[in-house]
Amino acid sequence: MPAPSSDPTPTRPPGRTVITFGTFDVFHLGHLRVIERAAALGDRLVVGVSADALNRRKKGRDPVFSEGERLAIVAALKPVDAVFLEESLELKRSYVERHRADVLVMGDDWAGRFDDLRDLCEVVYLPRTPAISTTALIEKIAGAV
Ligand code: CTP
Repeated sequence: MPAPSSDPTPTRPPGRTVITFGTFDVFHLGHLRVIERAAALGDRLVVGVSADALNRRKKGRDPVFSEGERLAIVAALKPVDAVFLEESLELKRSYVERHRADVLVMGDDWAGRFDDLRDLCEVVYLPRTPAISTTALIEKIAGAV
């Protein structure tokens, strides 16, 4: 029987929602490519941008651009429909549920790490764009000054 129209349960947005995560500091072509490829897997792309504190725990350094700046940059991209702050790596399951994601996309540097979420959504690991990273860019810029 169809749910009555007064049913308060939130409905899933139409089409496939894709979710992906990253720090996206010193935004570069590898970031753009993973966002474009993630968006192509569905109808709506939501991006979790790592909080400054999470980046410090994950990578052992402060990001060059603050979380507010990185959120603004990622939110302005054409393939991105919504952004939010990712506070913890351990909260992936609740982020997928909260955003009603059908597909979780991660770079293959995380291959296998989120397979336990396959009961909830499709999990796709995309190959990284070769020869570019935030770390390499920071080192290149630091070496040039
Ligand atoms: N990514 C990618 N290709 C690259 C670099 C990053 O596909 N050459 C993807 C990652 O796999 C991840 C997203 O971009 O899905 C965000 O990665 P992030 O860790 O923010 O960027 P890195 O350049 O890998 O940063 P760092 O050098 O600080 O680890």
